[in-house]
Amino acid sequence: MPAILDGRKISKDIKGEIAQKVTSIKAEGKRVPHLAIIIVGDDVASHTYVNGKINACKEVGFDFTLMHFASTVSEKKLIKHIEQFNEDEDIDGFIVQIPLPEHISVERITESISPWKDVDGFTNQNFGSIVSRNQRLLPATPFGVMELIRRYEIQTEGKNCVVVGASRIAGAPLSLMLLQDGGATVTVCHKLTENLAGHTKKADILVVAVGKPGLITKEMVKEGAVIIDIGITRVEDTSRKSGFRLVGDVVYDTVAPIAGYITPVPGGVGPMTIVSLLLNTLKAYGVKNA
Ligand code: GUN
Repeated sequence: MPAILDGRKISKDIKGEIAQKVTSIKAEGKRVPHLAIIIVGDDVASHTYVNGKINACKEVGFDFTLMHFASTVSEKKLIKHIEQFNEDEDIDGFIVQIPLPEHISVERITESISPWKDVDGFTNQNFGSIVSRNQRLLPATPFGVMELIRRYEIQTEGKNCVVVGASRIAGAPLSLMLLQDGGATVTVCHKLTENLAGHTKKADILVVAVGKPGLITKEMVKEGAVIIDIGITRVEDTSRKSGFRLVGDVVYDTVAPIAGYITPVPGGVGPMTIVSLLLNTLKAYGVKNA
């Protein structure tokens, strides 16, 4: 059986480390790091993710602010609030949860966030900082994946890494980080890739970030490969009280027995994304209070 890349355990360890730092900050009589979250509309999954982020702040002792807008809010009004957060000395970092309603441009919203407070690492400046190797606030999901790989001492140098999915928040930045920091040989597959299995079968490390349950089957995976599943989709499950369960892009039950390491969904990458947000907030606090 494969070894599990246990994001829940590693994130708990890191939260313990952050909580200790908060305790020393308090002991010095200083104000604690403060994360703010903007959420628009009533998407149930987004509210669940945001609650996870707020609970993580509570666990480590950060201050937090939650600002909720109706889905009819104008882009102009949202940007006005973002500009206030940019100026607010008491807020170290903030995020705008996505997806946003269709009448609001994610690009314009993201670019109105100060790169120094962009703890999601979504702005062009922070994205570009991966390439320049003068890294600032790294995108939370890829940062979390790199930290998971590092803490399990998985070798990336010279390895064949195949990343399926080239999104702006996961696949694209992670492929750059595997190349720049990991020294891996990286192949990025996307919607237009021909013969996907031909690529995935060559992967020593296979990362999947598409959001399509069942995309990766055991026939597409090399024996002993490290499998990192970033996909997280709610599928109906009437046997559960909630009426749904969360599944990744990888067919876990048949892929896990042939994998070397694998991330479960849930409990793999998800908790690492949240803890990366906390680490970025601590970093943004440190820059301000240096
Ligand atoms: N929606 C899905 N993942 C994320 C994330 O990491 N940050 C934000 N802001 N929205 C998301």
